[in-house]
This record gives sequence, structure tokens and C-alpha cells, in this order.
Amino acid sequence: MRTADGRDILDGLAGSMNANLGHGNSAVAAAMGEQARGLVAVPTIAGDVSDSALALAERIRQVIGIPDATCTFMSSGSEATEAALAVVWKYWSELGQPRKQKIISLDGSYHGCTLGALALTGRTDEHLDIPSLIPTFRLALPAWDPSDASRVSRSLEKLLESIDVDDIGAIFLEPIMGLAGMIPAAVDDISKVVTICRKNNILVVLDEALTGLGRAGRVTAAGMFGLDYDLLLMSKGLGCGFTPIATTCIASHVASVLGETVPALRHGHTSSGNPLAARVAQVVLDQLVASKAVENALQMGEVFEQLALNVLSGIGREYPVRATGLCLAVETDSSEYAQGVRRRAFDLGLRIRAIDRNIILCPPLIIERKDMLQMVSLLTRAILETERASTGS
Ligand SMILES: Cc1ncc(COP(=O)(O)O)c(C=O)c1O
Repeated sequence: MRTADGRDILDGLAGSMNANLGHGNSAVAAAMGEQARGLVAVPTIAGDVSDSALALAERIRQVIGIPDATCTFMSSGSEATEAALAVVWKYWSELGQPRKQKIISLDGSYHGCTLGALALTGRTDEHLDIPSLIPTFRLALPAWDPSDASRVSRSLEKLLESIDVDDIGAIFLEPIMGLAGMIPAAVDDISKVVTICRKNNILVVLDEALTGLGRAGRVTAAGMFGLDYDLLLMSKGLGCGFTPIATTCIASHVASVLGETVPALRHGHTSSGNPLAARVAQVVLDQLVASKAVENALQMGEVFEQLALNVLSGIGREYPVRATGLCLAVETDSSEYAQGVRRRAFDLGLRIRAIDRNIILCPPLIIERKDMLQMVSLLTRAILETERASTGS
């Protein structure tokens, strides 16, 4: 990318952590142009569905390996979360358990910024200004700790001793907590959490808005951890920035309870199932496969981790590095410091994000080795310069 004053910038964030194929793709552009000359609006909310939306749903079922899932389409990760909430509550109400309305989520989690998603999000200090609008259905658990195989599952067991499971509808989980600093679950912990929820009739909703379709170096983080789930949300990697699209995939044992109400759950938007977006997403999936993007993400994540650990271990402060595929983070000791690194990196020609004390990097999944080396080199310079400025040396 290039700034208004003509400086070239390496996009270490893939747009909004979603341009997984990079910026510009002629196959996607061609499909977009072709579809734009034909059918562009078929709203599933009105009970209609286009060939492209049907074909995309079929493709997603194959990709996630759940041949009988129902995939509904939304236009953003937040909307996918809202749809999942609607499904959860409808499901329990259809089963005669309308009290099962409370939802469990992890501290530090992010599930979107529409009101339902915000109410579920564990970044509670960010919306203190609108507390009276936020419903109070959230039950909190601590964030994952990759070095603790039972941190969240222990807390879940405790929580269930104090609250009637007949009041709990679902748990929403990011297998790798993105905005919290790319914190992966310990495999044993997340597996135990899923098992406990299953035993206690709590639906498991995996929010893979960020990690779905390759970002974690696997098609899904669910596959990487070997998790069973009831609903799966994916968004960023589905449109890869070319079109706003997201999916809420519903396992058949849940969808069958909703029966006739899916897709006419009375939940959807003007653009839900939009054929142009669906056609683009199909070509995006083709391009991800053709470019071996998922495999590349896994390899390049390892390259980043090795390089970053090598260069950062030799300098003053400690900088823990986290890499799961291309979900990358470097921890600093304060949010001001992380912001300082972000600003310096941009001046040096690298676009990254600072969230709380973490520096977040999410380059396109097709990043080449030379660009990864360049990215780590610019990041290291930005960190060194920030460190020097802060110590005055
Ligand atoms: C895990 C997760 N869920 C939901 C969302 C919300 O997605 P959107 O910004 O498309 O509404 C995000 C966005 O970053 C996310 O990372």
C-alpha cells in the first residue's frame, strides 16, 4: 500500500486482518464483474435463495467437514454473532426451555460491536459509557492461559456449582483470542470446556471470525484442536476483504430443532445471502486453495516466531512472542509502549496494530518469505527505537 505522500507501506495487518489474499486479485475481480452484470440481490430473509448462496453453503460444508450443517450468511462478524445468539435462544425456546438465556464468554474476548455481540464481549471496560443499554446475560470466565491446561475449565466447573444450568444457553469461545493478544487455548483446557458444556446442555459456539479459513495455519482452529461444536462463525477469511460476508454454520442437530424456521428464523438483513458476495466468496475459497494459503500461513508463522524470538531475545526488555499460523503478537509492558512501537513502525514503512499492551500482526496468508523477513526487520527496528526513546539512550 502507499500513503498519500507516496511512501510504500508493508501491510502487516492484511487490511482489517481480513485481506488474506493480499490486495487485488484478478480472478476475484473477474468473478465480481461477471456476477455484477447478473443477479445481485436475493434476500434469504424473504425466504429466497440464489444459486451462488447455495453453492457457497455447500462449499463451506465441505471445507469444515460437516456435510449436513446449515450455513446462513451475514455481512460481518458482529452480525454472525447476533445470528448465533438468535439461534441459541430460539433453539432452547423450541425445546421448551426458554429460561436458558444466559451466555458464557471469556474475559478479554471479542465477539463484535453490535449490541448483542457487545454484551457478550469480554472487553467490558470499553463500553462503560453505555451500560444501561447492554443486556446482562453474560457469565464471565477468565481468558485462556496457554500454559495452564485447566484454567478456564476449572473456572467453568466452579461457575456451574453456583448457577443453574437451566439458565445457561451457550458458551461463545474464540479458540485463539485475537484482540486479547492472539492467545491460544491450551488444547486440554478447551477440550475440557467443550466436554463439560456438552454434558450440561450448554451449546458450544466457536467464534472463528478471525481464525476461520486459514489464519491459524489450519482451515479452522476447531479442526486444529479437534473440537466438537454446535455453531461455528467465520467472516474475515470468507470475503478476504473483497466483499463483506460472514457465515453462521449450524450443526444439523440444532438446525433440525429450528426446523422450518431456518432460514426464516426472522433473523437476517437486506444483504444476507447476497449472490454477489456469495460468488466472490466462492472464488476467494478457490484462490486460497490454489495459492496454498493455509499451508503457507503455517510455515510463515513458524518463520516469524523463530526470527522474532532470535532478534528480540537479545535486547533489553522481555518481549513474549505468540504465533499460531499467522495470528501473531508481541507483548510489551504497556499500551503506551505498544502504541509507540506502532507509530514508529508506520514511520519505517510497516502497518501493524497495538491493542492494549500487545502488538498485533496479521499479514496476508500468502506472504512470501522475503516480505516476512522485511516485516520482522522493520518491527525490530521499531521496537529498538521505541526502547531507546523510552530509556533516553
Ligand atoms: C473473533 C471476532 N468475532 C467477531 C468480530 C466482529 O467482526 P466484524 O468486525 O466483522 O463485525 C471480530 C472482529 O475482529 C472478531 O475478531
